[in-house]
Amino acid sequence: MLNIIRPRRLRRTANIRRMVRETKVSVDDLIFPLFVVFGSGKKEEIESMPGNFRWSVDRVHEEIEQVVEANIPAVLLFGIPETKDEIGSGADAEDGVVQQAIRKIKELAPELVVIGDVCLCEYTSHGHCGVLRGDEVDNDATLERLASVAVSLARAGADMVAPSDMMDGRVAAIRAALDEAGFEHVAIMSYAAKYASAFYGPFREAADSAPQFGDRSTYQMDPPNLREALREIELDIAEGADIVMVKPALAYLDVVAAAREAFDVPLAAYNVSGEFAMVKTAAQRGWIDERRIVMEIVCGIKRAGADLILTYHAKDIARWLKE
Ligand code: PBG
Repeated sequence: MLNIIRPRRLRRTANIRRMVRETKVSVDDLIFPLFVVFGSGKKEEIESMPGNFRWSVDRVHEEIEQVVEANIPAVLLFGIPETKDEIGSGADAEDGVVQQAIRKIKELAPELVVIGDVCLCEYTSHGHCGVLRGDEVDNDATLERLASVAVSLARAGADMVAPSDMMDGRVAAIRAALDEAGFEHVAIMSYAAKYASAFYGPFREAADSAPQFGDRSTYQMDPPNLREALREIELDIAEGADIVMVKPALAYLDVVAAAREAFDVPLAAYNVSGEFAMVKTAAQRGWIDERRIVMEIVCGIKRAGADLILTYHAKDIARWLKE
């Protein structure tokens, strides 16, 4: 008999496979993004993101109850305000839609980790992530606005803030402003390596945040760049980011892996709206097995090195993990 090494021995039964499985996805890894909209009585399904809704604050408990029931530890909030203006005033309004939602969620579920997205694009009339000077996004003028948004979210009760704008120096500006306002305990999850990606399409429909002219390529990263991502992440850690993120996830798993290798802070990856929509549509047509595909995707993101996964599939994943 040939004395060959037989890896198949450890694939023979379900229990053996379970014993030698290297990567495990847990509900603890999941963050569920959700959209809150100005008004009342609203539960508007987002067409390109089936199963996801824009909730008005008076109905958001319907979603929060499910998230808590699923034992998902955290939600990430995006807001759609009543009106927009040049500087995104709705983003740091005391009675802003996200601020109201945070207060409500903290009443309903004090233990649930509430993360507020810090960006201006949902609140500006031009749809860019910062304030403009001419046709340019003015980096340093935007920092003040972002710092004010972060403080406003913290004041409403957010446990963490997540800047997604990609301005230079925003983590430092936000950290300083939070500390100054007495929120030194509020953590920053930075969208450190966020690419100018077509995968955000459905989100922009959901949040009504598409830029009215031009695109985001002067502030979000150029998709072909990996070394630059590591530099962005390094800068954000130096500026005080507690958790760093790579976004999108699937076309950027090499970035996730390189970031895991290079840095010791918790690493998140955002399985974005376009990734979600592609899976959902194919599943609805019966072309793929949704459950198996989603579990394979989140397992892949973890295997690449992410600790945390932001995903619109979170409630389904939590349910499947229990079964
Ligand atoms: C806001 C923001 C975006 C996303 C998260 N925060 C859109 C964008 O940058 O245009 C995308 C999330 C998703 O696609 O799921 N800047």
